[in-house]
Amino acid sequence: MRYLVTGARGFVMSVLVERLLTAEPDAVVTTVDLHAPDHLLTTHLAGHEGRVQHVRADVGDSSAVAEVIAESDPEVIVHGATVTHDAASERLDPGRFIHVNTGGTATVLDAARRAGRVRRVLLVSSGAVYGSSPLGLLTEDAAPAPDEMYGISKLAGELVARRFGRLYGLEVPIARLTKMFGPMERPSSGRAVMSLPYHLAAAALAGRPLRVTERTLRAGGDWLSATRAAGALHLLARGTGRGDGVYNISSGVRTGVPELLARFGVEALPAPAGEGVVDMDPDAESGKNGVYASDRARRELLWNPGDLQEQVTEYLTWARNNPAVFVASR
Ligand SMILES: NC(=O)c1ccc[n+]([C@@H]2O[C@H](COP(=O)([O-])OP(=O)(O)OC[C@H]3O[C@@H](n4cnc5c(N)ncnc54)[C@H](O)[C@@H]3O)[C@@H](O)[C@H]2O)c1
Repeated sequence: MRYLVTGARGFVMSVLVERLLTAEPDAVVTTVDLHAPDHLLTTHLAGHEGRVQHVRADVGDSSAVAEVIAESDPEVIVHGATVTHDAASERLDPGRFIHVNTGGTATVLDAARRAGRVRRVLLVSSGAVYGSSPLGLLTEDAAPAPDEMYGISKLAGELVARRFGRLYGLEVPIARLTKMFGPMERPSSGRAVMSLPYHLAAAALAGRPLRVTERTLRAGGDWLSATRAAGALHLLARGTGRGDGVYNISSGVRTGVPELLARFGVEALPAPAGEGVVDMDPDAESGKNGVYASDRARRELLWNPGDLQEQVTEYLTWARNNPAVFVASR
């Protein structure tokens, strides 16, 4: 299979690219990202050099996207290039979310429908589309209620993709990812805020406690390793599941912060409000901060999220082999 993956210099999509190349010995992957691969990505994909080609392009640039699709001739595109939420970037440049996340999706879909061979475009979306929904357990049928420019732009991207699918007979499944953690998470041009598990891995590596605000210890969330998510994305990309389906890719359960700390073997150092490395609000555990039911993915993709402790152990092993990734964590 010939794949084109956007956003592949980033966290989740780099894990997916490795998965595609490992699971399918005849897969050929073209990656598209604003940035060239860093040393970490090159190392991660070592051994597959002959089957992967990296192209630097802006997904908002229609002629650049059309050119790379024409040259690489993919059957399947996985569109993951994104700018993700952080409060400072949203205030500074709200239009960038719309430009990249919605406009970029339209550009990729338009180029895909013009190129003869593309049959499926998997859109990597986010539970951020559930936004301020009052529900604590979100199925894919829950009404979207995005409340930040990131979620708004991702939902608009979903609608745009869906319309392209209907207009041109393209399969356009949508994967809504929960909070991701795991190997290859590092700061990127699209994402400045690292996950709680990233900081936990850093603390575990250094053998120190983690400074978290008092209220964070009463909070929880739905965390899933990108390696597990990549399994679901791979199934969706290669043709499993409905071409017009929406799938939550999530653990489907709440894990409390104290349990997560224990799984990483890290102690909490309670910090005053505003001074923790991580601050989560225990009163905000619905909508985008809720639990996303993964029953549909389990049923239709025959995928399951797997055991959390195994995911944590795998991540810690990777972290010990890649300590430089964690220097950014205090
Ligand atoms: N990380 C999470 O917890 C999480 C949760 C839900 C959904 N997702 C989704 O997963 C996907 C990957 O997210 P991630 O966390 O790996 O993000 P990331 O920031 O690590 O990677 C995104 C990549 O997109 C690239 N990019 C940004 N703007 C671009 C542009 N204009 N043209 C080309 N490339 C561009 C960046 O350079 C970066 O390499 C996204 O679609 C995101 O919405 C992630």
